Amino acid sequence: MDYFNYVDNKLYCENVPVEDIVKRAGSPCYIYSVNTVREHYQKLYSAFSALNPLICFSIKNCNNTEIISELVQLGSGIDTVSGGEIYLARKAGTPSEKIVFAGIGKTDEEISYALDQEIGIFNVESEAEFENISRLAGQKGKRIKVALRVTPDVVDEKTHDKTKTGYKGSKFGVDIDRAIEFFETYGNDPYVSLSGIHIHIGSPIYSPQPYEIAIKKILALITELEKKGHTIDIFDIGGGYSADYEKGKSSSFEEFASVIVPLLKPRADKGMQVIMEPGRTITGNAGILVTKVVYIKDNGDKKFAIVDTGMHHLIRPALYEASHFMWPVDRKHYVNEGRNIGHSAEDLIKYDVVGPICESSDYLARDRYLPPAQKGDLIAIFTAGAYGMVMASNYNATLKPAEVMVDKDTAYIIRERETLDDLTRLNTKRALEI
Ligand code: LLP
Repeated sequence: MDYFNYVDNKLYCENVPVEDIVKRAGSPCYIYSVNTVREHYQKLYSAFSALNPLICFSIKNCNNTEIISELVQLGSGIDTVSGGEIYLARKAGTPSEKIVFAGIGKTDEEISYALDQEIGIFNVESEAEFENISRLAGQKGKRIKVALRVTPDVVDEKTHDKTKTGYKGSKFGVDIDRAIEFFETYGNDPYVSLSGIHIHIGSPIYSPQPYEIAIKKILALITELEKKGHTIDIFDIGGGYSADYEKGKSSSFEEFASVIVPLLKPRADKGMQVIMEPGRTITGNAGILVTKVVYIKDNGDKKFAIVDTGMHHLIRPALYEASHFMWPVDRKHYVNEGRNIGHSAEDLIKYDVVGPICESSDYLARDRYLPPAQKGDLIAIFTAGAYGMVMASNYNATLKPAEVMVDKDTAYIIRERETLDDLTRLNTKRALEI
């Protein structure tokens, strides 16, 4: 669900017309519905409440501090993968004990920073990293909590190859058949309490089954570890729960919970802390990217809608062949309530929707049926709240768009649109003292 709706054929974000926002914030522009974010968090939490989980919103998908802060106020923790993300989480008011720190390449500086910030838990991905964290914790005289990221050799075939992570041989974590050896080697470290398991099988995952298979494998592993005298009191089941790129395409929170909760409840009841790291399922449908048509080009058999955004602001179609539903902000009489990407009708026109970047891969949609478009029309690209702005770049010396957050009747600018000055702001010529 989300709070982007047409009223008298004009698109609204909550109670504010999208066209009015763009008049103020400029085009292109990311617009988030904060009540969609809040509701998604609350519905996810209540679906899994029998586990009393710590939900750690994964800010790699959306990291504006205003959005993070909204979730933190609801009780969310934060999943981070860099010193920068820890910084943003702390800026947004996240209590340090609710921060988890994952990532295969944590540098010494990032580990030291995380130790100084006293974050709750490190998700460790290799022997070398474990030893390094132990060394740095020892230097600071700290004892910290660690979960081992295990690769359970489970994938959802619907997940794009570039975002599958749970297969044997992926760069992430430690293959499941090496996990016991890992615990045997590092289970009694003086500075690191190794007492958790972390998995993340890929993103997005469309149904509960891959979680079911992976969780069952890990529960069997935990039983084995316990037989060898290890205590596992944290199970971080990762993220990946899909967003509705078309209405109804993703499993609901209740569907995911109906499979996952019964598997984990016996352990949760005995005190095991369940952690979840959702990203897109909370923010995906809570954000749109609005763009203006700059030109229509008719190349005979192909029609192009050339718009003022592209792969530099939303790279998912170019990078993963991802499909985002899009529709005009003023839809006139053209209705597509199902946000059905393949929708065709007699009075629609088939366009390639492309951006201005000098790359053939700079497209937002291919062969997409849309109402007839003309210069100046605004088009909303839906389900762009996750992995949208965070992956934006300044390629071709373009400027990043503004971010706007709507709460009922009020629209707030939460990140200014960049200006030309920003393109040279960090440039300098300064002799290095070598
Ligand atoms: N936890 C870990 C360890 C992760 O690596 C990720 C995503 C998440 C949680 C959150 O996944 P989510 O719930 O948002 O699916 N740029 C790609 C997605 C890359 C995902 C990276 N890891 C995309 O646009 O689809």
